[in-house]
Amino acid sequence: MLPAIAWKANRVVMIDQRKLPLKEIYLEYRTHGGVARAIKTMVIRGAPAIGVAAAYGVALGVLAWKSGENIDRAFERITRRLQGTRPTARNLFWALERMRRTFEANRNLTLARLKRRMLDEARRIEVEDLATNEAIGRNGRDLIPDGATVLTHCNAGELATAGYGTAVGVIRAAHEQGKKIRVFSDETRPFLQGARLTCWELDRRGINVVLITDNMAGWFMRKGEIQVVIVGADRIARNGDTANKIGTYTVAVLAKEHGIPFYVAAPMSTVDPGLETGAEIPIEERDPGEVRKIGGRFITLPHIPVRNPAFDVTPAKYIAGIITEKGIFRTPYCFGA
Ligand code: MRU
Repeated sequence: MLPAIAWKANRVVMIDQRKLPLKEIYLEYRTHGGVARAIKTMVIRGAPAIGVAAAYGVALGVLAWKSGENIDRAFERITRRLQGTRPTARNLFWALERMRRTFEANRNLTLARLKRRMLDEARRIEVEDLATNEAIGRNGRDLIPDGATVLTHCNAGELATAGYGTAVGVIRAAHEQGKKIRVFSDETRPFLQGARLTCWELDRRGINVVLITDNMAGWFMRKGEIQVVIVGADRIARNGDTANKIGTYTVAVLAKEHGIPFYVAAPMSTVDPGLETGAEIPIEERDPGEVRKIGGRFITLPHIPVRNPAFDVTPAKYIAGIITEKGIFRTPYCFGA
């Protein structure tokens, strides 16, 4: 299996996550517009993977420039297109800001050298994300006791990152320590990232995974079958409030009620230094069709109104710790510069 995203001979290759686990299809993109569509339509998803895709999208846009191009105007056009794809994932904007800094620092070079620098920076973002996730795994693995059942929600694994995963990375690192671990994966309605992606990844890695529907978590907690919860994050405010896949908040409240530690695992690039609290995090509202249908078939009357927020915000008071590559942060949160 290739990683979720890879750069190959001036093309970006992605596994089509909409088709998993039934089909393993790889799609190639040669333009920044193609990458923007891939992000918007969830060919690639998961905050860190979206960040890597956006960086490669910018690189593809810049590589297409001809001499005599108004590069400032062209750069704005490319970033605006990519910015408009998914509003909640902080890593998208973080990666675009990094690409902008590289552009500004190198815009007076020859076009050929500027192109090289932009591609190098996108590659660095990918390589660093993998190393970051491995560090998150090392920092978090001791939080999982031997013999524990871990609940996770959505997919914060290798498909959602440049590799290894964040929440799933912590689980993998504990598994690699030789601990016997069982994972309960919430199915994660409506896009089914848990059922389709997390189960697929863990099964391939030889980690014991059990699929549950989203409404079962409370019951298993009450029965003492879950010892720890670990999820990823799409955006973290300065006070630790965390946006993640819709349903995460419910799981966090349930965990608190049952005295089960609830951890978030995420790279520092998911922390938004511009936001004081989670109330400021923009929440993406997706197509109602995702709720009305399963597998392309209506499960309700087509005219019934639907709400489909893709994320919710878990207040910091429910979070036992945020596991990052720099260590584990706890309340009161101070993520530093
Ligand atoms: O809508 P998605 O699939 O992009 O949402 C993904 C999540 O909510 C993940 O939990 C989060 O991005 C962390 S991925 C390491």
